[in-house]
Amino acid sequence: MRIDIITVLPELLKSPFEASILKRAIEKGLVEIYFHNLRDYVTDNYKQVDDYQYGGGAGMVMMIEPIDKCITKLKSERSYDEVIYMTPDGETLKQKTANFLSLKENLIILCGHYKGVDQRVRDHFVTKEISIGDYVLSGGELGAAVLCDTIIRLIPGVLGNESSALTDSFQDDLLAPPIYTRPAEYKGWKVPDILLSGNFPKIEIWREEEAYKRTKERRPDLLDE
Ligand code: ADE
Repeated sequence: MRIDIITVLPELLKSPFEASILKRAIEKGLVEIYFHNLRDYVTDNYKQVDDYQYGGGAGMVMMIEPIDKCITKLKSERSYDEVIYMTPDGETLKQKTANFLSLKENLIILCGHYKGVDQRVRDHFVTKEISIGDYVLSGGELGAAVLCDTIIRLIPGVLGNESSALTDSFQDDLLAPPIYTRPAEYKGWKVPDILLSGNFPKIEIWREEEAYKRTKERRPDLLDE
């Protein structure tokens, strides 16, 4: 998979890709990440990427021309499955979206900044708009990092234990069950006996029941879906 990220602040985005699972995925060649600084697509001396809103109002708007130049250049080099715009008024990111996107070859992610992008960018270039939650970030960069993390960890070979992404919370619209590791008893607090029993079919049933209980308590809305 290849992901091209368009931003005015590439430095804000780099560190999540320089550690742990994402770093290893890149090193193994399972994903390629490219950052494109929008200012490199501006011809004027001031490197202006934003301007005042037509009709008045507070806040600057990202201009269409540098975005058009950047996306058009990328599209001239390969085809893209989606051009994603990170915005608080997009569809809320869910595990299903991550599953869907993890099967794609080439993605462009456009990070909004200031008030966001000129509507014509959304009308003519963007194919999918994603929000990471009902709150407003200073820009789309942190959202793009979250989105990339959710997608990349699902690519086969990225996680050491292939089955582990499948047992994450949300994969079956259920939260994950409680988990424990050694010691079996700590300060009198015991690991449930069933997990030490070696009876794996029973352990599986216990986990499913716990996952259901936890989901019913904390996120009953998931069960409605
Ligand atoms: N940009 C600003 N807020 C955002 C959010 N909640 N999700 C994605 N991009 C954003």
